Amino acid sequence: MIIPAESDRRRGYTTCPTCSSVVRADGGPCRICRTDLTIALLLPPAPAGAVRTPPRAVAPVRVERKQSTAVRSPAPVRSPAAILPAPAARRPLPTVPPTLRVGQVTKTFGQGHTAVTPVRDVSFDAGPGEVVLIMGPSGSGKTTLLLMLGAMLRPTAGSVCVAGVDMATAPQRKLPKLRATNLGFVFQDFNLLGALSATENVEYACNLAGVRGHRAADRAEQLLRQVGLGHRLHSRPVSMSGGEQQRVAIARALANDPPLILADEPTANLDAATGRSVAHVLRGLASDQGRTCVIVTHDERLEAIADRVLWLDDGHLLTGGGPSVAAGQPVIDLRDDEDSAARSLSDADRPACPVIKLRVS
Ligand SMILES: Nc1ncnc2c1ncn2[C@@H]1O[C@H](COP(=O)(O)OP(=O)(O)OP(=O)(O)O)[C@@H](O)[C@H]1O
Ligand SMILES: [Mg+2]
Repeated sequence: MIIPAESDRRRGYTTCPTCSSVVRADGGPCRICRTDLTIALLLPPAPAGAVRTPPRAVAPVRVERKQSTAVRSPAPVRSPAAILPAPAARRPLPTVPPTLRVGQVTKTFGQGHTAVTPVRDVSFDAGPGEVVLIMGPSGSGKTTLLLMLGAMLRPTAGSVCVAGVDMATAPQRKLPKLRATNLGFVFQDFNLLGALSATENVEYACNLAGVRGHRAADRAEQLLRQVGLGHRLHSRPVSMSGGEQQRVAIARALANDPPLILADEPTANLDAATGRSVAHVLRGLASDQGRTCVIVTHDERLEAIADRVLWLDDGHLLTGGGPSVAAGQPVIDLRDDEDSAARSLSDADRPACPVIKLRVS
């Protein structure tokens, strides 16, 4: 194709691509050979010496007389640097504040020579999207610790911050509201109301969380479908398997949309297959919804879904059977992938207490 000279374009003339005649660019066809000139008019001026590939077949464009004489301003010259995409800038890794921050928590029952201290100086944190297991022998203080994380038991010393609020020092009258806002509980024996259907069990929890009427029923149904129980909406607990009941309990724990789920032996009463399905649901709550799951368990199968395992022994936190992590020990962070690093705390964010971060491979 012949490109009209810039001087011709400025004067309102163009060069016919067929017969090479310089003709008036008035929107009509070439006066000599009747070729449609609108395509030539629409082309931007080419740089000197450029060979332009012919345009593909284009539907005829109706050009008004006024427009046909308009002069196109040359396209701005762009440097190669402006055309090429800029190299991806390395953004600093985001730091995510922990959902849960436990600082030097101790619990002592009784006094004097009858005093028992099942939890001593325990410190750790857990961020959004993390599944943290708390394991240890029977009587090592796991449940006592979990009760303190859930503000159901007040620590003798230390802090338990959930979503930035220290539950350990919050006034007693404020605890129910804080629990209802921030926490979801899953128990070993499900604790469902036997007279109610699956939907009603979850709906009841929605009511307690402030959602009422048909919105509560809709939410209950949605949560049950989320945990794979869409076919069990109207079943009573007695007619459901252990795994199904536990999934109802998980749906119930989600009624208030909590950032932190606390589970005490959630798979202890389940066989291998149903235990796996419950573990899968808990993992999904962390990975897909960004919730933090802290699970107390004896069940080593759950290690497969955990980001970290914290070992308790006689009330002390150990690092997977390694050296004791008492207050003042340095931070242990064995995770090295970028994703995990993005979730760990920046130095500025770290609490005064030691943080235990173990990667279970
Ligand atoms: N209210 C209480 N009063 C006195 N001692 C208690 C109380 N609650 C727990 N303990 C003691 O604290 C210790 C730890 O109990 P905890 O239930 O936390 O252990 P656990 O690790 O959960 O054990 P398991 O794996 O068997 O469930 C036990 O020796 C227990 O007797
Ligand atoms: Mg226990």
